[in-house]
Amino acid sequence: MHAFKNVHFIVTAGPTREYLDPVRFISNPSSGKMGYFLALECLRQSPHVTFIHGPIAKSLIPNESENIRFESTDELLECLMAKLDSLKDKSMILIMAAAPGDYKSKNFHQKKIKKSNETLEISLVRNPDILLEIDKKKKNFPKLFRVGFAAESHHATQHGLEKLKKKNLDMIVVNNILKKSSGFQSDFNEVEVIQKEGVSKKIPKAHKETVAREILNEIEKYF
Ligand code: CTP
Repeated sequence: MHAFKNVHFIVTAGPTREYLDPVRFISNPSSGKMGYFLALECLRQSPHVTFIHGPIAKSLIPNESENIRFESTDELLECLMAKLDSLKDKSMILIMAAAPGDYKSKNFHQKKIKKSNETLEISLVRNPDILLEIDKKKKNFPKLFRVGFAAESHHATQHGLEKLKKKNLDMIVVNNILKKSSGFQSDFNEVEVIQKEGVSKKIPKAHKETVAREILNEIEKYF
């Protein structure tokens, strides 16, 4: 495969942490495995791979990629934008496999919250939608191909298609998070790849390494 020879891949992976106080945070069960196998596959195609990851196991951080770590959704937005800005009009493929939290604490408590009452109420505010923020600046990145993921528990295809359109993506990889033994934490995944033109392809349950290869095969059709 020489299609990707001059392409810079940016793969995001893993969960975010939104801290409430110095010792507590809101997160999600994303392991970063899908992003890891995608990054490995990208490294087989191109020497230019940036892996932007949240708090994930060290064993899931590739050795040969440029690796950048984030903690919160705001931080992910910041380091991803900085990377895109540095590459500007170069040919880039963004694979957004990270699971950024949609909400953060309205007030970060500098000191540990002590227990007092029987109930504790925490106000949350919306985080930026990173793919929407990138779409607003798409003129700055004329050769950026955008692949999103969709974690759905019901009406997966329909919701995936809606996200593809709303976030103005080139492709979306939809997975049903309720399916047993695939998705979050698992070594296996079962996905549907939907392209901008509406063409869709189901990738049957397989190891995430195989699924990653299939996803890259779908992307390659555009290069
Ligand atoms: N995403 C993003 N910014 C966020 C949340 C998600 O860019 N604040 C990206 C994810 O990395 C993924 C895609 O958007 O590629 C869809 O993420 P998902 O969690 O399925 O959907 P949301 O847009 O968060 O919508 P909802 O939670 O309402 O289903």
